[in-house]
Amino acid sequence: MKYHIVTYGCQMNLHESEKIAGILREKGYDEESSLEEADIVVFNTCCIRENAENHAFGNLGALKKLKRAKKSLIIAVGGCMVQEAGKAQLIREKFPFVDILFGTHNLYELGELIDRKKSQKKAVLSVPEERKETEDGIVAVRTSYPNAWVNIAYGCNNFCSYCIVPYVRGRERSRKKELILEEVRDLILKGYKEITLLGQNVNSYRDGETAFPELLDEVASLEGEFRLRFMTSHPKDFSEELVAVMKKHKKICRVLHLPAQSGSNRILSLMNRRYTREKYLEHVRYLKQEIPDAELTTDLIVGFPTETDEDFEATLSLVREADFASAFTFIYSPRSGTKAAEMEGQIPEETGKARIVKLIDLVNSQTREKSKKYIGKTAEILCEGYDEKKKLYLGRDSYGRMGYFESEQSPVGEFVTLKIVRASGISLYGERI
Ligand code: 5AD
Ligand code: SF4
Repeated sequence: MKYHIVTYGCQMNLHESEKIAGILREKGYDEESSLEEADIVVFNTCCIRENAENHAFGNLGALKKLKRAKKSLIIAVGGCMVQEAGKAQLIREKFPFVDILFGTHNLYELGELIDRKKSQKKAVLSVPEERKETEDGIVAVRTSYPNAWVNIAYGCNNFCSYCIVPYVRGRERSRKKELILEEVRDLILKGYKEITLLGQNVNSYRDGETAFPELLDEVASLEGEFRLRFMTSHPKDFSEELVAVMKKHKKICRVLHLPAQSGSNRILSLMNRRYTREKYLEHVRYLKQEIPDAELTTDLIVGFPTETDEDFEATLSLVREADFASAFTFIYSPRSGTKAAEMEGQIPEETGKARIVKLIDLVNSQTREKSKKYIGKTAEILCEGYDEKKKLYLGRDSYGRMGYFESEQSPVGEFVTLKIVRASGISLYGERI
């Protein structure tokens, strides 16, 4: 039997889809296939911004025809959007052909829900308000060799005023250190070369006496040839200990993803971010003083309620001062149930759009400048695959920059050294040496 999973949203969701695949395999769906050929289709949704939701809604509508043509097809919808207040009911009404609805809190129950659906005619809806357990027992079907994601924590306690995550993913829960170490050890033995530790806020990880820097230290001390990344860090929990651990281990990539969100103190305060622009820049300086070759990447939001031109200019100047290597940029999207959605001074869409264009221009120009500096130098790339269009192998350096090169044999899963001959946007082109 065949399965097809559609994933929306972040790396956290991509990894959860790997776990969903693990559950499906246990249930006898042993082959991944196209949407048209599948016996079960699972949508793993995201609700962080409205466009992610609209996207999922649009694609769900298109499944109706498929279901009509193949009555035995099971359609399951899960993830953040289903966990959102009132959304499961809405999906049920709009898409009555959906067979199973499950939330972020009971992903691990999907197997049972499939059994239930098979033994009854009506749809199965199971969206508990709280999580009963973590999904540590699930064996993920990894889809991104030589890279692998490892959850270290779930949920978030920060309640940034714009963000729906704490509502749909619940309170912060850290996984046991031993389970994390065991999972990473196993991945290294299986030949994975890049491990990314995942959590909504990795810096507030805690298991008994172990905080995040100690966990990172222990993972980086494991034997084997691999790179280590982690995301996401909250600036309010930035610590000198974390930088010391990064400095100690060459295995830890010299790039810190530290979402700034805004460069204006007034907006940061309204966002409930609990740091100032000055504090943020202090962290940047400290990181670069300790690890001069470190780079920073970030997340930025434009058009937050009441954001003035001056506030926006402050974000632009932060981008310059912090010298970000790259950034994920977003137009603020009001999410029902969050504080910011109730604030006065919502910004017109056109203003948000105009601001993001300027912001992206600036970020891209910085990224391009940094890429140019690679020309004539060498870069160590972990080869991830082959680009059919470019007819070149591709991979990333430890900063996450994409590098393309020719090779007669497949070096997928190997570290290769490239002499960079050309840079284009964020991509590097090189010759293998
Ligand atoms: N609108 C726009 N961007 C958002 N993010 C989170 N919530 C919203 C929202 N309501 C962005 C933040 C966060 C990233 C994962 O998504 O920048 O860091
Ligand atoms: Fe959302 Fe803030 Fe938690 Fe990140 S830290 S998931 S932006 S509430």
